[in-house]
Order: sequence, then C-alpha cells, then structure tokens
Amino acid sequence: MTMNWTAVGLEDVAPVVKPDRGEREAFAEEVRRGLRRARKELPCKFFYDAHGSQLFNRICDLDEYYLTRTETGILMRYAGEIAQALGPRCTLIEYGSGSSIKTRILLDRAKDLAGYVPIDISRSHLDAAARQIRLEYPGLAVLPVCADYTQSFDLPARCATGRRCVFFPGSTIGNFEPEAARDFLRGIRAQCGSDGALLIGVDLKKDPALLHRAYNDREGVTAQFNLNLLARMNRELDGDFNLSQFAHYAFYHPGRGRIEMHLASLCDQDAWAAGEQFHFREGEAIFTESSYKYTPQEFERLATDAGYRVEHRWTDSRRWFSVQLLRAV
Ligand code: AVI
Repeated sequence: MTMNWTAVGLEDVAPVVKPDRGEREAFAEEVRRGLRRARKELPCKFFYDAHGSQLFNRICDLDEYYLTRTETGILMRYAGEIAQALGPRCTLIEYGSGSSIKTRILLDRAKDLAGYVPIDISRSHLDAAARQIRLEYPGLAVLPVCADYTQSFDLPARCATGRRCVFFPGSTIGNFEPEAARDFLRGIRAQCGSDGALLIGVDLKKDPALLHRAYNDREGVTAQFNLNLLARMNRELDGDFNLSQFAHYAFYHPGRGRIEMHLASLCDQDAWAAGEQFHFREGEAIFTESSYKYTPQEFERLATDAGYRVEHRWTDSRRWFSVQLLRAV
C-alpha cells in the first residue's frame, strides 16, 4: 500500500486544488480496481484531498480522538530526553512533515542538529513550512524535499551521510498492513544507514470502547471524513454516488488488533465513477481503512523484524500512546 499524507496544518479554508491528469487517472485506476473486487475496497491514501485534510485536522482536535493530543503531550514532556537520545549533529528527517507542528517541540530542545529535512508531497505546503521554520530557527539548516515518502527518493547530498534520524509521528504506521509496515520500516533503515534511527509514534492497544469512540465521534466528523471518499469520486471522477445511501461504519476488531473503517450501502443500488458502473447490495461495504494498534511487545517484534532495536519508549501515564526511538542494528 502506498500513502501520501499531506493532512497536517492546512489552512482553515481548503484551497480548490484540481488534481492534474496523472493524479486523476491514478485515482480512477485504483477506484476501478478496488470496486471491481468481490470484497470492495479503496486505499486510505485517497482520504487526503484538500477537504479530507481539513476534516482530518478537525478529527485531531476532537475530544474522542486522543491520539494527537496524547502524542503531543509525550513529546512535550520528554523533548529534552529525546533530543539527548538523538545524539550530537544528527540530521532530523521528517516523513509527511505538513506544517511541522510536532517537530517544533523537538527543534526547541535539540539545539545541536546538523539539519532538518522536511519531506512532503505538497510543494506549496512544504515551501511555506520550510520558510517559516527558517525564520523561527535561524541557525538551523532546513533542506526540504518534495517527495512521496512511500516511494524511493534521494536525500540532499549533504545529509546523505552522518547521523540521521527519521521522525514519523501520528501513528500513521498503523495504517499499513503489518507486512507493508515491516517493509516500510526496512526502507527507512536503509535510508538512515547503519547508525541511523527512527523516532516513531505508535498507538497502543487499549479498552476497545475507547478505540471505538475515537473513530465514531459524536459530531460525526470521522463519518464525514470517510464519506468524503465518495464525494471525492463524484468531484474528480464524474461519479454519482448518493452519499445519503451510504453509512460510515467503524469498529475495533480485537482479533486483528485494528480499527476497520467501512462505507456500508444502505440499499441495493448502482453508482457510477471513473467511467464504470458498480453495483452495491444492501449491506455491502467498501473497506476504506485499517488502523492497527500494537502492544509494546508486538511493535518491538515488528521493529526487530525490520532491523531495529527499541532504544527508548516514552508513553503517557495511561499508556495509550507511545513515542519510540528505534535504532538500526
Ligand atoms: C492518519 N491516521 C493515523 C489516522 C488513524 O487514526 O488511523 C487516520 C484516521 N482515520 C480515522 N480517523 C483518523
């Protein structure tokens, strides 16, 4: 699975950004492939158009969605320790940097960085964020890279050697299927070199009722976020999905250790998108996202398989979320 996360820190009003032909064709192709399947599915990376990114920002502020708040609290509490653990003259490379909001917590304490490399797929977003960081941290070398971090890309030559640490907050790793997560972590290890590290946010297993609430908020923002996939097909792929005939359905599957999000058809219906007609039986669902939750031991196993050891694990007092420093072995 490939994912582009450009969600963090969009302006309040989403700009009307028309995807180019290539992007639209790639979306259309994935829609046709996903909706032709016996078990219909769509990749969760398509949540994040401008409107979906705004909705995701609203999710991060919801009472029920503890993830962002808890991770930020951990970073604030342990920034000094984290900065020290990174070691001297480390280059911090952030995957999916957005507006680099959480990064600033680290930059405030890590005074000895060799540089900061924000990586984001959105050029305009990246440039604006890099300009702002340069203003706020005048002594820091800021070397932005516009790239899809799930694909291979080159680091700027001046930080391709030396101590490197990738920062990957938000528990986005939970949106990868476990095998893909392992391969992705291996790729980061290869990019960071033999003394490299990965500072990663990982959501932890907890009372399923709390998890359920986090993905079924009272205001219905997560439902809008999920349904935006259909709206996006209508906007970009000449679709005619009737959003009122689909329901957001999210639940925690304890056996699989993941939240599953679906869009369930409320009736027998046909919908058109990407030049094709798709039939939905009443109750049939499109699988739109997995969000895996790990125990510390499960994540350690994954990290070990990917070629790391867990050097530090910082958690909140309720042990709901963790920020982990993985060191390449
Ligand atoms: C981006 N990712 C970590 C979020 C999550 O919690 O899995 C996406 C999300 N889906 C629904 N709410 C938030």
